[in-house]
Amino acid sequence: MVSRLRAERATLGYGGRTVAEDLTVDVPEGAFTAVVGPNACGKSTLLRALVRQLDPSSGTVTLDGRPVGVWKARAFARAVAFLPQDPVAPEGETVRRLVGRGRFPHQRPWALWSPADAEAVEGALVAAGVSELADRGVAELSGGQRQRVWIAMVLAQETSHLLLDEPTSFLDLRHQYEVLSLLARLRDEGRTVVAVLHDVNQAARYADHVIALRDGAVVAAGPPGEVIDAALVERVFDLPALVVPDPVTGTPMVVPRV
Ligand SMILES: Nc1ncnc2c1ncn2[C@@H]1O[C@H](COP(=O)(O)OP(=O)(O)OP(=O)(O)O)[C@@H](O)[C@H]1O
Ligand SMILES: [Mg+2]
Repeated sequence: MVSRLRAERATLGYGGRTVAEDLTVDVPEGAFTAVVGPNACGKSTLLRALVRQLDPSSGTVTLDGRPVGVWKARAFARAVAFLPQDPVAPEGETVRRLVGRGRFPHQRPWALWSPADAEAVEGALVAAGVSELADRGVAELSGGQRQRVWIAMVLAQETSHLLLDEPTSFLDLRHQYEVLSLLARLRDEGRTVVAVLHDVNQAARYADHVIALRDGAVVAAGPPGEVIDAALVERVFDLPALVVPDPVTGTPMVVPRV
């Protein structure tokens, strides 16, 4: 497995509290990775470390073999885009302006807005299905509309790596599948995608690689068909379940026995 972005023997935590110890995670290149696990197991913490928002207290996180912390901010942001679980929009921002912020790493402070910037923003608005919202205020959107606007912002960043923390949590069913299909398309175009997903069945359908976390440790990592079974669901979620083939895709489908 080729991996440009990886955490090696990393200890992650906040203040004196350790969330994960000795954590080694490889993000496979050009693949769609789903991170699954129960609340508070460290999914967001892992993503923050991978995007250099959280320094490991020991071990390393590297992109192309260089610790992420030594990368220049703009160069790192041209390679890696991150959508946090609870992003906050600046007050009074319109959708188009917010999405335009994704262009920051491609611009020099004194340069004018370029045709490439405009093209990237319009393309991202279309891909995320929010073109018709472009002139609205971000604050006046529904939760699901806003989530798709944020996705447009990270798309406008045009990075090789996209890390998204629960990108589907506010979306209705159809929009969940649209966003997952969009991420799969980006993967097909050669991008590396990492998404925290709570729906294991969706992870099994769309991801090439699943990382299952519990208590800050990797319980299993690999292709969904190889790692998702009843024993894993029990170990990770404390949930007795059957795992059967999804009738549509044949991928593992979790049917709780409760
Ligand atoms: N900024 C913070 N300061 C202190 N502790 C934090 C902070 N963020 C998270 N934690 C703690 O770290 C642990 C892991 O949190 P994390 O946000 O990584 O979980 P998660 O797997 O993303 O959960 P969820 O599914 O609820 O989003 C939790 O115990 C949480 O309380
Ligand atoms: Mg989280």
